[in-house]
Amino acid sequence: MTPEVQQMYESLKAKLEKIVPDVELRYKAEIAVEINALKKARNAVILGHNYMEPALFNSVPDFTGDSLDLSRKAAQTDKDVIVFCGVKFMAETAKILNPTKTVLLPSDKAGCSLAASITAEDVRALKARFPGVPVVSYVNTYADVKAESDICCTSSNAVAVVESLHAETVIFLPDEYLARNVARETGKHIIFPTLTPGPSPKGRGEELDYQLIGWRGRCEVHEKFTVKDIETVRAQFPDVVVLAHPECSPEVTAAADFSGSTNAMIRFVRESKAPHYLVLTECAMGDNIAAANPDKDMLRLCMVRCPHMNTITLEETRDALKFNRYVIEVPEEIRLRAYRAVQRMIEIG
Ligand code: 13P
Ligand code: SF4
Repeated sequence: MTPEVQQMYESLKAKLEKIVPDVELRYKAEIAVEINALKKARNAVILGHNYMEPALFNSVPDFTGDSLDLSRKAAQTDKDVIVFCGVKFMAETAKILNPTKTVLLPSDKAGCSLAASITAEDVRALKARFPGVPVVSYVNTYADVKAESDICCTSSNAVAVVESLHAETVIFLPDEYLARNVARETGKHIIFPTLTPGPSPKGRGEELDYQLIGWRGRCEVHEKFTVKDIETVRAQFPDVVVLAHPECSPEVTAAADFSGSTNAMIRFVRESKAPHYLVLTECAMGDNIAAANPDKDMLRLCMVRCPHMNTITLEETRDALKFNRYVIEVPEEIRLRAYRAVQRMIEIG
């Protein structure tokens, strides 16, 4: 081991010795040192989403956080290259905010079921059906969908963004469950329209009191958690505190003790004292919370994984910097319109 690898290994071991076997830490320390050298040579910044696996999360990122946090960091960087250890819509957001910089996504398979659930054409059809109604798009969308939107939101500011519009009715896309959770929190009535031509439901005198127009996109990870899962875990661990991401169904968030963005869940565990916690989200984040809170017992349901986030590895991150891949591009005409929606969100906070 070189002194740099030894130092990296010691630092990983200090944080992860109860979570990751030693043999893996030694192997990953070597790759992390390679990445840090490439990062310096290319004047790059590495942003790591909270779902990154523990060795990656705790070694190479300059910043870790949730989608909103990382958008802010991307907006502030003065580096030449941004490596996004997350999924494509996150890397695209970084490119929207930094058109002159090189943005790299270490895997070309890091999609997202929510981003794939809606197209720009779908949004145009909704706007035609509900003229003048403002469109809020979750950041888990691609740039062309953001370009059709008035403002973006993340799970940590969705309610604040909807309320900031002071609009009677809002189109909220594309996550059905996040929309239902926002509707519950804001007391709004939600509908999921069919896009058949003709007058809007209000024009036909139907559904007179709706205030939120949703879309039936789902996160393929969070939709799998059920109330039964929570009940079963509570039967085994009666004093467990359950945390659920707002991409889970409203029944699941209602049965949980707390619901919030990935950062909010991390903060909740750090700031509270319970004998056991269960986090209903990508399992790697449970590992990362466990590593940061060695005195707390973290339960996780690792049968549910995000296949997209899991394509981002230390090896792929090294190769991204080495071979300059996979370069994220956004056509300028789309970027300019998407920028307005993302920037408006960042300003709200
Ligand atoms: P956060 O914004 O809470 O980090 O969530 C992003 C995501 O993709 C959750 O599945
Ligand atoms: Fe998309 Fe769900 Fe994976 Fe998050 S966890 S990136 S919302 S598929």
